[in-house]
Amino acid sequence: MGGKMSGSAAEGWNKERVEIGVLGLGVVGSGTVQLLQRNRAEIERKIGIPFRIKRIAVRDLYKQRAVTVDRALLTTDAGEILDDPDIDIVCELIGGVDPAKEFVLRALRNGKQVVTANKEMIAKEGHLLMEEASARSLDFQFEGSVAGGIPIIQPMKNALAGNRVVEVMGIINGTTNYILTKMSQERANFGDVLREAQEHGYAEADPTSDIGGFDAQYKIAILASIAFTSRVHVQDIYVEGITGIEAADIEAARELGYVIKLVGIARRVDDDRMQVRVHPALLPQSHPLASTNGVYNAVLVRGDSVGDVMFYGRGAGSGPTGSAVVGDIMDVCRNLRSGSTGRVACTCFEHRSVQPIAEVVTRHYLRMTVEDRPKVLAAIATVLGENDISIESVVQKATHSGLAEIVWVTHEAPSLRVVQALEEIVRLDVVQSVANWIRVEA
Ligand code: NDP
Ligand code: HSE
Repeated sequence: MGGKMSGSAAEGWNKERVEIGVLGLGVVGSGTVQLLQRNRAEIERKIGIPFRIKRIAVRDLYKQRAVTVDRALLTTDAGEILDDPDIDIVCELIGGVDPAKEFVLRALRNGKQVVTANKEMIAKEGHLLMEEASARSLDFQFEGSVAGGIPIIQPMKNALAGNRVVEVMGIINGTTNYILTKMSQERANFGDVLREAQEHGYAEADPTSDIGGFDAQYKIAILASIAFTSRVHVQDIYVEGITGIEAADIEAARELGYVIKLVGIARRVDDDRMQVRVHPALLPQSHPLASTNGVYNAVLVRGDSVGDVMFYGRGAGSGPTGSAVVGDIMDVCRNLRSGSTGRVACTCFEHRSVQPIAEVVTRHYLRMTVEDRPKVLAAIATVLGENDISIESVVQKATHSGLAEIVWVTHEAPSLRVVQALEEIVRLDVVQSVANWIRVEA
């Protein structure tokens, strides 16, 4: 393998080898290092320069690792990477905001290119980090942060950049899709499947982030910011996780011709407003996202020129995410060689507000337990009608001990009207409980 190719000297960067420092050797760190080791020769030929993993920071030097590395490479002092003048690229694979954000800032201030898969840090602090990188003409890349192995950030920033994006809709959390798929296909128990997802390395260190919808919230914040060239604040995004989904909902949805998925939706409302939300949704079985099962993720991007583009692949795990991280590292190596780091800066140059969820118009699925006697349906239908909610279908499910389970699907109505109607419905004597309310997407 030759050194740097002639005529390709980077501005101010003139080395024979790229030096990489990795922070974190967990699920993603191991996948990244393993891929760099396994495909080293081919990677080096593609980028035209050798590389070396010079140091890897971890918390525990003696932990069993999923990848074989020389123990001498390991350190518990991240500063040995961040402050090493010889290291060109810092790969942050620790997770969370603290201390990851301080580590990344320190790396950038020390003139290092940064690659990360940390969606929480990008969604909450990405603006600051991108400004820091831009000011120094440094690369700051984060393909692995959304949808694991699926290339979505780079395509949206490059190949699709000419489009005015109308909508991005995706299944962007592998853990919850794995859980919902197993609950649906195998009638599996929620807790058991979550444990399986953790064993596979799909879940976050704190799986509340997955099942509570926060991981998807960070990811849709990132996608919406790129799609609508406007910074999206995490706290403005409506989020609902999957912990309220019961086997009865999955079964009722199936009978009605739908599947239940946790979706992230970013939709252009008008020139000044966008919808950005994460919640479970009933999708018709014919919907392009409906057959995305297990750990697979899929993202549908609608552009004004390209039309619909679907991205599909494994949304979590060591190998897939390692693939995205290594792709970024290779991109940075090429930019280093050609003197073009910092080429694609932050594109959030406009301001759009997020439409409040109360105003968002969808169809709705409502499941409730009511007394099994005459005029009950009429009483509920009256409340829905008085709140200007029109009914598309109603199905009476199992009847037991004088109680019936009723499933309604409504025509389109803003969420606020459903909230108001449900407040009245739960007060009706004949209604024992409203078991669930799930939005229905076309
Ligand atoms: P893990 O918990 O498996 O790994 C985290 C690693 O960081 C561990 O090796 C840990 O060391 C190390 N670490 C933590 N704190 C420090 C510190 N202060 N100094 C040095 N090392 C530290 O997490 P994942 O690999 O799953 O996730 C990493 C990032 O990638 C997160 O941002 C996550 O959201 C993101 N991501 C994860 C995906 C997945 O499928 N798991 C997919 C896409 C993105 P030690 O091992 O010694 O404890
Ligand atoms: N915990 C995340 C998921 C990892 O399950 O999708 C990938 O970002």
